[in-house]
Amino acid sequence: MYKITLLPGDGIGPEITAATTKILAATGVPIDWEEHQAGQFAIPEYGTPLPEHVLESIKKNKIALKGPFTTPVGTGFRSINVALRKIFDTYANIRPARTYPGIRTRYDNIDLVMIRENTEDLYAGIEHMVGEDAAESIKIITRKGSERICRFAFEYAIKNNRRKVTAVHKANIMKCTDGLFLEVAREVAKDYPQIEFNDRIVDNMCMQLVMRPEEYDVMVAPNLYGDIVSDLCAGLVGGLGVVPGANIGDGIAIFEPVHGSAPEIAGQDIANPTALILTAVMMLQFLGEKRAAAQVENALAAVIKEGKTVTPDLGGTAKCMEMADAIIDKMHQ
Ligand code: NAI
Repeated sequence: MYKITLLPGDGIGPEITAATTKILAATGVPIDWEEHQAGQFAIPEYGTPLPEHVLESIKKNKIALKGPFTTPVGTGFRSINVALRKIFDTYANIRPARTYPGIRTRYDNIDLVMIRENTEDLYAGIEHMVGEDAAESIKIITRKGSERICRFAFEYAIKNNRRKVTAVHKANIMKCTDGLFLEVAREVAKDYPQIEFNDRIVDNMCMQLVMRPEEYDVMVAPNLYGDIVSDLCAGLVGGLGVVPGANIGDGIAIFEPVHGSAPEIAGQDIANPTALILTAVMMLQFLGEKRAAAQVENALAAVIKEGKTVTPDLGGTAKCMEMADAIIDKMHQ
Protein backbone atom coordinates (compact mmCIF):
# COMPACT_ATOMS: atom_id res chain seq x y z
CA MET A 1 0.00 0.00 0.00
CA TYR A 2 1.40 3.39 -1.04
CA LYS A 3 0.78 6.24 1.39
CA ILE A 4 0.61 9.46 -0.62
CA THR A 5 -0.15 13.01 0.46
CA LEU A 6 -2.98 14.51 -1.60
CA LEU A 7 -3.43 18.28 -1.86
CA PRO A 8 -6.40 18.89 -4.16
CA GLY A 9 -5.75 22.65 -4.24
CA ASP A 10 -8.45 25.22 -4.98
CA GLY A 11 -10.24 26.63 -8.03
CA ILE A 12 -10.55 23.71 -10.48
CA GLY A 13 -8.20 21.67 -8.25
CA PRO A 14 -10.85 19.64 -6.37
CA GLU A 15 -12.71 18.77 -9.62
CA ILE A 16 -9.68 17.51 -11.53
CA THR A 17 -8.42 15.74 -8.38
CA ALA A 18 -11.73 13.88 -7.98
CA ALA A 19 -11.53 12.79 -11.64
CA THR A 20 -7.91 11.68 -11.30
CA THR A 21 -8.24 9.76 -8.03
CA LYS A 22 -11.26 7.90 -9.47
CA ILE A 23 -9.11 6.81 -12.43
CA LEU A 24 -6.25 5.80 -10.13
CA ALA A 25 -8.64 3.74 -8.02
CA ALA A 26 -9.71 1.91 -11.20
CA THR A 27 -6.10 0.83 -11.86
CA GLY A 28 -6.15 -1.32 -8.72
CA VAL A 29 -2.83 0.15 -7.52
CA PRO A 30 -3.26 0.26 -3.73
CA ILE A 31 -3.00 3.90 -2.65
CA ASP A 32 -3.88 5.24 0.78
CA TRP A 33 -4.39 9.00 0.27
CA GLU A 34 -3.61 11.36 3.10
CA GLU A 35 -5.71 14.32 1.98
CA HIS A 36 -5.07 17.83 3.32
CA GLN A 37 -6.27 21.34 2.72
CA ALA A 38 -3.78 24.10 2.12
CA GLY A 39 -3.91 27.55 0.58
CA GLN A 40 -6.84 29.90 1.14
CA PHE A 41 -9.04 27.07 2.52
CA ALA A 42 -6.56 26.35 5.30
CA ILE A 43 -6.26 29.93 6.55
CA PRO A 44 -9.54 30.21 8.54
CA GLU A 45 -8.83 26.99 10.48
CA TYR A 46 -5.04 27.04 10.82
CA GLY A 47 -4.10 30.70 10.35
CA THR A 48 -1.59 29.80 7.63
CA PRO A 49 -1.88 28.65 4.01
CA LEU A 50 0.68 25.91 4.62
CA PRO A 51 -0.03 24.29 8.02
CA GLU A 52 2.70 22.29 9.75
CA HIS A 53 0.76 18.98 9.54
CA VAL A 54 0.71 19.28 5.73
CA LEU A 55 4.50 19.60 5.67
CA GLU A 56 4.78 16.71 8.14
CA SER A 57 2.61 14.52 5.90
CA ILE A 58 4.82 15.19 2.85
CA LYS A 59 7.97 14.67 4.94
CA LYS A 60 6.68 11.34 6.18
CA ASN A 61 5.24 9.99 2.91
CA LYS A 62 7.97 11.50 0.70
CA ILE A 63 5.52 11.66 -2.16
CA ALA A 64 2.62 13.99 -2.91
CA LEU A 65 0.12 14.67 -5.65
CA LYS A 66 -1.08 18.23 -5.72
CA GLY A 67 -3.58 20.31 -7.63
CA PRO A 68 -3.19 24.04 -8.33
CA PHE A 69 -3.39 26.75 -5.69
CA THR A 70 -4.51 30.33 -6.26
CA THR A 71 -1.83 32.83 -5.28
CA PRO A 72 -3.15 36.28 -4.36
CA VAL A 73 -1.61 38.99 -6.56
CA GLY A 74 0.27 41.89 -4.96
CA THR A 75 -0.78 41.29 -1.34
CA GLY A 76 -1.66 38.24 0.74
CA PHE A 77 0.25 35.01 1.31
CA ARG A 78 3.24 33.90 -0.78
CA SER A 79 2.97 31.17 -3.37
CA ILE A 80 2.48 27.72 -1.82
CA ASN A 81 4.14 26.16 -4.83
CA VAL A 82 7.29 28.20 -4.40
CA ALA A 83 7.26 27.56 -0.63
CA LEU A 84 6.99 23.78 -1.11
CA ARG A 85 9.85 23.77 -3.63
CA LYS A 86 12.02 25.71 -1.17
CA ILE A 87 11.15 23.71 1.95
CA PHE A 88 11.71 20.32 0.29
CA ASP A 89 14.54 21.48 -1.97
CA THR A 90 12.87 19.87 -4.98
CA TYR A 91 15.58 21.04 -7.30
CA ALA A 92 14.45 19.29 -10.46
CA ASN A 93 11.28 20.26 -12.28
CA ILE A 94 10.37 17.72 -14.98
CA ARG A 95 8.12 19.06 -17.70
CA PRO A 96 7.29 16.61 -20.49
CA ALA A 97 5.40 17.80 -23.59
CA ARG A 98 4.10 15.30 -26.11
CA THR A 99 1.41 15.32 -28.74
CA TYR A 100 -1.72 13.22 -28.40
CA PRO A 101 -3.69 12.77 -31.63
CA GLY A 102 -7.03 14.54 -31.25
CA ILE A 103 -5.59 17.65 -29.62
CA ARG A 104 -5.27 20.39 -32.22
CA THR A 105 -1.63 21.38 -32.59
CA ARG A 106 0.64 22.66 -35.34
CA TYR A 107 2.90 19.60 -35.10
CA ASP A 108 2.59 15.82 -34.85
CA ASN A 109 4.88 13.49 -32.95
CA ILE A 110 6.40 15.91 -30.49
CA ASP A 111 8.01 14.26 -27.50
CA LEU A 112 10.10 16.71 -25.49
CA VAL A 113 11.12 16.90 -21.84
CA MET A 114 12.43 20.01 -20.12
CA ILE A 115 14.43 19.42 -16.94
CA ARG A 116 14.35 22.80 -15.22
CA GLU A 117 16.56 23.78 -12.29
CA ASN A 118 14.12 24.79 -9.59
CA THR A 119 16.00 26.60 -6.83
CA GLU A 120 18.57 29.07 -8.21
CA ASP A 121 18.96 31.68 -10.92
CA LEU A 122 16.89 34.87 -10.80
CA TYR A 123 14.29 32.97 -8.75
CA ALA A 124 16.48 33.16 -5.66
CA GLY A 125 14.46 36.35 -5.05
CA ILE A 126 17.45 38.52 -4.21
CA GLU A 127 16.34 41.87 -5.59
CA HIS A 128 16.11 45.42 -4.41
CA MET A 129 15.57 48.97 -5.53
CA VAL A 130 18.66 51.05 -6.20
CA GLY A 131 17.38 54.50 -5.37
CA GLU A 132 13.94 55.22 -6.80
CA ASP A 133 14.54 54.72 -10.46
CA ALA A 134 16.49 51.53 -10.76
CA ALA A 135 16.14 47.98 -9.53
CA GLU A 136 18.58 45.13 -9.28
CA SER A 137 18.06 41.38 -9.22
CA ILE A 138 20.85 38.93 -8.54
CA LYS A 139 21.24 35.79 -10.60
CA ILE A 140 22.70 32.90 -8.64
CA ILE A 141 24.20 29.91 -10.42
CA THR A 142 26.35 27.48 -8.43
CA ARG A 143 28.51 24.53 -9.45
CA LYS A 144 26.60 22.30 -7.01
CA GLY A 145 23.18 23.40 -8.31
CA SER A 146 24.25 23.05 -11.94
CA GLU A 147 25.88 19.69 -11.40
CA ARG A 148 22.93 18.07 -9.66
CA ILE A 149 20.42 19.26 -12.30
CA CYS A 150 22.64 18.23 -15.23
CA ARG A 151 23.28 14.83 -13.68
CA PHE A 152 19.55 14.48 -13.06
CA ALA A 153 18.88 15.22 -16.76
CA PHE A 154 21.32 12.54 -17.95
CA GLU A 155 20.06 9.98 -15.45
CA TYR A 156 16.51 10.78 -16.56
CA ALA A 157 17.57 10.29 -20.19
CA ILE A 158 19.03 6.87 -19.43
CA LYS A 159 16.11 5.67 -17.31
CA ASN A 160 13.59 6.78 -19.91
CA ASN A 161 15.40 5.48 -23.01
CA ARG A 162 16.10 8.94 -24.36
CA ARG A 163 18.89 9.59 -26.85
CA LYS A 164 19.97 13.19 -26.37
CA VAL A 165 20.37 16.00 -23.82
CA THR A 166 20.56 19.66 -24.88
CA ALA A 167 21.80 22.26 -22.38
CA VAL A 168 20.04 25.63 -22.74
CA HIS A 169 21.91 28.81 -21.74
CA LYS A 170 22.99 32.31 -22.66
CA ALA A 171 26.68 31.83 -21.95
CA ASN A 172 27.70 34.11 -24.80
CA ILE A 173 26.42 37.09 -22.78
CA MET A 174 26.34 35.88 -19.15
CA LYS A 175 29.81 34.45 -19.23
CA CYS A 176 30.12 33.89 -15.48
CA THR A 177 26.72 32.52 -14.51
CA ASP A 178 25.56 30.73 -17.65
CA GLY A 179 29.20 30.09 -18.49
CA LEU A 180 29.48 28.08 -15.27
CA PHE A 181 26.25 26.19 -16.02
CA LEU A 182 27.50 25.27 -19.51
CA GLU A 183 30.95 24.28 -18.26
CA VAL A 184 29.38 21.95 -15.69
CA ALA A 185 26.94 20.53 -18.26
CA ARG A 186 29.85 19.69 -20.55
CA GLU A 187 31.76 18.03 -17.69
CA VAL A 188 28.78 15.96 -16.60
CA ALA A 189 28.09 14.93 -20.23
CA LYS A 190 31.49 13.19 -20.31
CA ASP A 191 30.19 10.69 -17.73
CA TYR A 192 27.36 9.68 -20.08
CA PRO A 193 28.98 8.86 -23.44
CA GLN A 194 25.94 6.78 -24.42
CA ILE A 195 23.77 9.93 -24.48
CA GLU A 196 24.30 12.50 -27.24
CA PHE A 197 24.95 15.99 -25.86
CA ASN A 198 24.76 19.44 -27.37
CA ASP A 199 23.93 22.95 -26.21
CA ARG A 200 21.87 25.83 -27.55
CA ILE A 201 21.71 29.52 -26.71
CA VAL A 202 18.22 30.10 -25.36
CA ASP A 203 16.98 32.46 -28.09
CA ASN A 204 18.14 30.09 -30.81
CA MET A 205 16.62 27.20 -28.82
CA CYS A 206 13.20 28.87 -28.99
CA MET A 207 13.46 29.36 -32.75
CA GLN A 208 14.70 25.79 -33.29
CA LEU A 209 11.88 24.35 -31.20
CA VAL A 210 9.31 26.19 -33.28
CA MET A 211 10.93 25.23 -36.59
CA ARG A 212 12.32 21.75 -35.91
CA PRO A 213 10.97 20.40 -32.60
CA GLU A 214 11.59 16.81 -33.70
CA GLU A 215 15.37 17.37 -33.46
CA TYR A 216 15.20 17.78 -29.69
CA ASP A 217 14.65 15.31 -26.89
CA VAL A 218 15.61 16.08 -23.26
CA MET A 219 16.63 19.67 -22.45
CA VAL A 220 18.24 20.93 -19.26
CA ALA A 221 18.21 24.60 -18.27
CA PRO A 222 18.63 27.03 -15.40
CA ASN A 223 15.41 28.17 -13.75
CA LEU A 224 14.28 31.11 -15.89
CA TYR A 225 15.00 29.62 -19.33
CA GLY A 226 13.49 26.34 -18.15
CA ASP A 227 10.34 28.15 -17.09
CA ILE A 228 9.92 29.98 -20.39
CA VAL A 229 11.02 27.24 -22.79
CA SER A 230 8.85 24.62 -21.07
CA ASP A 231 5.78 26.81 -21.64
CA LEU A 232 6.82 27.14 -25.26
CA CYS A 233 6.92 23.33 -25.41
CA ALA A 234 3.46 23.20 -23.80
CA GLY A 235 2.25 25.51 -26.56
CA LEU A 236 3.61 23.14 -29.20
CA VAL A 237 1.43 20.29 -27.90
CA GLY A 238 -1.85 22.03 -27.08
CA GLY A 239 -1.28 24.28 -24.08
CA LEU A 240 -1.17 24.16 -20.31
CA GLY A 241 -4.30 22.01 -19.97
CA VAL A 242 -2.49 18.96 -21.32
CA VAL A 243 1.03 18.99 -19.82
CA PRO A 244 2.08 17.34 -16.56
CA GLY A 245 4.89 18.18 -14.15
CA ALA A 246 6.91 16.88 -11.23
CA ASN A 247 9.20 18.46 -8.67
CA ILE A 248 11.87 16.07 -7.49
CA GLY A 249 14.39 16.42 -4.65
CA ASP A 250 16.61 13.94 -2.86
CA GLY A 251 14.13 11.38 -1.53
CA ILE A 252 11.07 13.56 -2.16
CA ALA A 253 8.71 13.87 -5.11
CA ILE A 254 5.84 16.30 -5.51
CA PHE A 255 3.74 15.78 -8.63
CA GLU A 256 1.69 18.70 -9.93
CA PRO A 257 0.23 19.84 -13.23
CA VAL A 258 1.69 22.98 -14.75
CA HIS A 259 -1.54 24.96 -15.06
CA GLY A 260 -3.08 27.14 -12.38
CA SER A 261 -6.42 27.12 -10.56
CA ALA A 262 -8.40 28.63 -13.50
CA PRO A 263 -10.81 30.42 -11.13
CA GLU A 264 -13.06 31.60 -13.99
CA ILE A 265 -14.16 28.05 -14.81
CA ALA A 266 -14.00 26.59 -11.27
CA GLY A 267 -17.07 24.86 -9.86
CA GLN A 268 -18.60 24.10 -13.26
CA ASP A 269 -17.07 20.63 -13.71
CA ILE A 270 -15.78 21.65 -17.17
CA ALA A 271 -12.03 21.78 -16.40
CA ASN A 272 -9.87 19.46 -18.45
CA PRO A 273 -8.43 16.78 -16.14
CA THR A 274 -5.77 15.70 -18.70
CA ALA A 275 -2.80 17.53 -17.14
CA LEU A 276 -3.43 16.10 -13.66
CA ILE A 277 -4.11 12.62 -15.07
CA LEU A 278 -0.80 12.73 -16.97
CA THR A 279 0.82 14.00 -13.77
CA ALA A 280 -0.58 10.94 -12.00
CA VAL A 281 0.83 8.78 -14.82
CA MET A 282 4.27 10.25 -14.05
CA MET A 283 3.70 9.40 -10.40
CA LEU A 284 2.79 5.78 -11.24
CA GLN A 285 5.95 5.50 -13.35
CA PHE A 286 7.99 6.91 -10.46
CA LEU A 287 6.47 4.28 -8.17
CA GLY A 288 7.46 1.58 -10.65
CA GLU A 289 3.80 0.87 -11.52
CA LYS A 290 4.59 0.83 -15.23
CA ARG A 291 1.64 -1.31 -16.30
CA ALA A 292 -0.91 0.90 -14.56
CA ALA A 293 0.81 4.01 -15.92
CA ALA A 294 0.58 2.71 -19.48
CA GLN A 295 -3.02 1.58 -18.94
CA VAL A 296 -4.11 5.08 -17.86
CA GLU A 297 -2.09 6.92 -20.52
CA ASN A 298 -3.33 4.66 -23.33
CA ALA A 299 -6.96 5.02 -22.22
CA LEU A 300 -6.61 8.81 -21.96
CA ALA A 301 -4.99 8.96 -25.42
CA ALA A 302 -7.81 6.83 -26.87
CA VAL A 303 -10.52 9.07 -25.36
CA ILE A 304 -8.79 12.20 -26.67
CA LYS A 305 -8.33 10.65 -30.11
CA GLU A 306 -12.01 9.69 -30.32
CA GLY A 307 -12.93 13.23 -29.29
CA LYS A 308 -16.45 12.20 -28.19
CA THR A 309 -16.12 12.60 -24.43
CA VAL A 310 -13.71 15.48 -23.97
CA THR A 311 -14.03 18.80 -22.16
CA PRO A 312 -14.90 22.10 -23.93
CA ASP A 313 -11.28 23.29 -24.22
CA LEU A 314 -10.59 20.17 -26.33
CA GLY A 315 -13.61 20.93 -28.51
CA GLY A 316 -16.08 18.65 -26.72
CA THR A 317 -19.06 19.10 -24.43
CA ALA A 318 -18.23 16.57 -21.70
CA LYS A 319 -17.95 17.40 -18.04
CA CYS A 320 -14.66 16.75 -16.26
CA MET A 321 -16.03 13.66 -14.49
CA GLU A 322 -17.67 12.33 -17.68
CA MET A 323 -14.26 12.40 -19.33
CA ALA A 324 -12.81 10.51 -16.35
CA ASP A 325 -15.57 7.89 -16.62
CA ALA A 326 -14.90 7.48 -20.36
CA ILE A 327 -11.22 6.89 -19.56
CA ILE A 328 -12.14 4.26 -16.96
CA ASP A 329 -14.42 2.53 -19.52
CA LYS A 330 -11.54 2.44 -22.02
CA MET A 331 -9.21 1.01 -19.35
CA HIS A 332 -11.55 -1.92 -18.94
CA GLN A 333 -12.05 -2.61 -22.66
P1 NAI B 1 -4.27 29.15 -15.23
O1 NAI B 1 -3.40 28.04 -15.67
O2 NAI B 1 -5.13 28.92 -14.04
O3 NAI B 1 -5.23 29.57 -16.45
C1 NAI B 1 -4.77 30.00 -17.73
C2 NAI B 1 -5.85 29.70 -18.78
O4 NAI B 1 -5.90 28.31 -19.03
C3 NAI B 1 -7.26 30.10 -18.34
O5 NAI B 1 -7.99 30.52 -19.47
C4 NAI B 1 -7.84 28.81 -17.80
O6 NAI B 1 -9.24 28.75 -17.87
C5 NAI B 1 -7.20 27.79 -18.72
N1 NAI B 1 -6.98 26.50 -18.03
C6 NAI B 1 -6.01 26.21 -17.13
N2 NAI B 1 -6.11 24.96 -16.73
C7 NAI B 1 -7.16 24.42 -17.39
C8 NAI B 1 -7.77 23.14 -17.38
N3 NAI B 1 -7.32 22.13 -16.64
N4 NAI B 1 -8.88 22.96 -18.17
C9 NAI B 1 -9.35 23.94 -18.94
N5 NAI B 1 -8.80 25.17 -18.99
C10 NAI B 1 -7.73 25.40 -18.22
O7 NAI B 1 -3.34 30.42 -15.04
P2 NAI B 1 -3.66 31.85 -14.40
O8 NAI B 1 -5.02 32.31 -14.82
O9 NAI B 1 -2.48 32.66 -14.73
O10 NAI B 1 -3.63 31.62 -12.83
C11 NAI B 1 -4.80 31.43 -12.01
C12 NAI B 1 -4.33 31.19 -10.59
O11 NAI B 1 -3.59 29.96 -10.53
C13 NAI B 1 -3.40 32.27 -10.04
O12 NAI B 1 -3.76 32.52 -8.72
C14 NAI B 1 -2.02 31.65 -10.12
O13 NAI B 1 -1.16 32.17 -9.15
C15 NAI B 1 -2.34 30.21 -9.85
N6 NAI B 1 -1.35 29.26 -10.39
C16 NAI B 1 -1.07 28.18 -9.65
C17 NAI B 1 -0.21 27.22 -10.10
C18 NAI B 1 0.01 26.02 -9.25
O14 NAI B 1 -0.61 25.88 -8.21
N7 NAI B 1 0.89 25.10 -9.62
C19 NAI B 1 0.48 27.34 -11.38
C20 NAI B 1 0.07 28.50 -12.14
C21 NAI B 1 -0.79 29.44 -11.65
